[in-house]
Amino acid sequence: MAVIASNCPQHRVVVVDINEARIAAWQSDQLPIYEPGLEELVRRVRNKNLFFSTEISRNIAEADIIFVSVNTPTKTFGQGAGRAADLQYWETTARQILENSDSPKVVVEKSTLPVRTAEAMERILRSNGNGHHFEVVSNPEFLAEGTAIRDMQQPDRVLIGGRETPSGQRAVQAIVDIYSQWVPNERIITTNLWSAELSKLVANAFLAQRISSINAISALCEKTEADVTEVAHAIGMDSRIGAKFLRAGVGFGGSCFKKDILNLVYLCEHYGLQEVAAYWEQVVRMNEYQQARFVSNMISSMFNTVAGKRVAIFGAAFKANTSDTRESPALDVCRALLEEHADVVMTDPHALDMARADLGDLAQQVTFEPDPHQAAKGAHALAILTEWPDFAQLDYQALYKSMVKPAFIFDGRNILQHQKLHAIGFNVYAIGKPPLTNFAK
Ligand code: UDX
Repeated sequence: MAVIASNCPQHRVVVVDINEARIAAWQSDQLPIYEPGLEELVRRVRNKNLFFSTEISRNIAEADIIFVSVNTPTKTFGQGAGRAADLQYWETTARQILENSDSPKVVVEKSTLPVRTAEAMERILRSNGNGHHFEVVSNPEFLAEGTAIRDMQQPDRVLIGGRETPSGQRAVQAIVDIYSQWVPNERIITTNLWSAELSKLVANAFLAQRISSINAISALCEKTEADVTEVAHAIGMDSRIGAKFLRAGVGFGGSCFKKDILNLVYLCEHYGLQEVAAYWEQVVRMNEYQQARFVSNMISSMFNTVAGKRVAIFGAAFKANTSDTRESPALDVCRALLEEHADVVMTDPHALDMARADLGDLAQQVTFEPDPHQAAKGAHALAILTEWPDFAQLDYQALYKSMVKPAFIFDGRNILQHQKLHAIGFNVYAIGKPPLTNFAK
């Protein structure tokens, strides 16, 4: 919304939320999330044409266009638990829009939703016959965290799906008019509603599939002395495959990939497409395997026990340049190490607060240490779980000195200089590469 406000000074953009603390944070100098470039942008447009408010009813009444971005977590109860999206917040919002509207509105699906949700929303919005017309449009968001501002300023494409009726097309045009203020026309694509809804799930499924594919190959590399970085480079130069999203690692995290694939799986099962469902589900299984494999490798390399050993986890965020720890592999690895009775210390430049909150009761068993040098002190092993560039710049000679010997590094993101670390004295285990150990043969 900050990007829209900055590109469309003629529009007044109001962000509403039931969470008062969050809205207060958006109005303060301490924004509730870390995202490069966001603070500067918000400062520029805040109280000019970007506003934050908890007055939901009034702002619904005044709006012509409503972007609904409420969360759609995976259901944890009842039918479809663990797979289907929980749509209760969406439905509540639709009813709230209906109750507070005394003029026609365009309602934009921004949250990722199961295919054909728009239909259910239309039915709710048209249910009490208050005479006002609501048009539902799907405008899925493709930005990635950490590069959100750039992704929105210069998107590969903007996708807008709507009904093929004259009023549906007018609503689509209203959204096209917003984006065309800064996005070239050839990058704005319009489709029917169902294609737009499905494309979002499919885009995330394809991206995650690439990661699981290269991670599957990383396991094979470790057995065959091939190097996964070299393999990824070699295959990525084929323009049909492409070089991006081929970084092997400890697995994908984030709020989207797992949730959206499971959503896709549920949808396929619902339509009786068992083979299609099983195919996509395997992408998530491979991701779980990669994380489990990482922890097993740590334990077996460290003489089959980590109990009582201090292990420093470098990185809590699910990727670099964000404070977000949702579905972060770092937290899964942390939980697994705690189960093995390791003494876990975690360091991260921006995500420690969220990690503490996400770990819940387990947080009491973890030491949170913002300084990586302190975190490494007295540790048997370092595990790199987020690709923060800072971690590659540390003085590993000094870290090595302060650690218990033999000292181990498990580079779950392949960001360090492994040969150098090996020369310092570390036993180095990277993803999809032969281990570099200093043990006598
Ligand atoms: C993703 C999609 O990229 C975005 O288009 C969609 O709108 C939301 O979901 P996001 O989850 O923010 O964005 O981050 P992304 O950059 O896709 O990374 C997801 C996870 O995959 C991270 O844990 C990242 O570390 C991991 N990853 C990514 C890899 O392990 N290897 C890669 O090559 C790329």
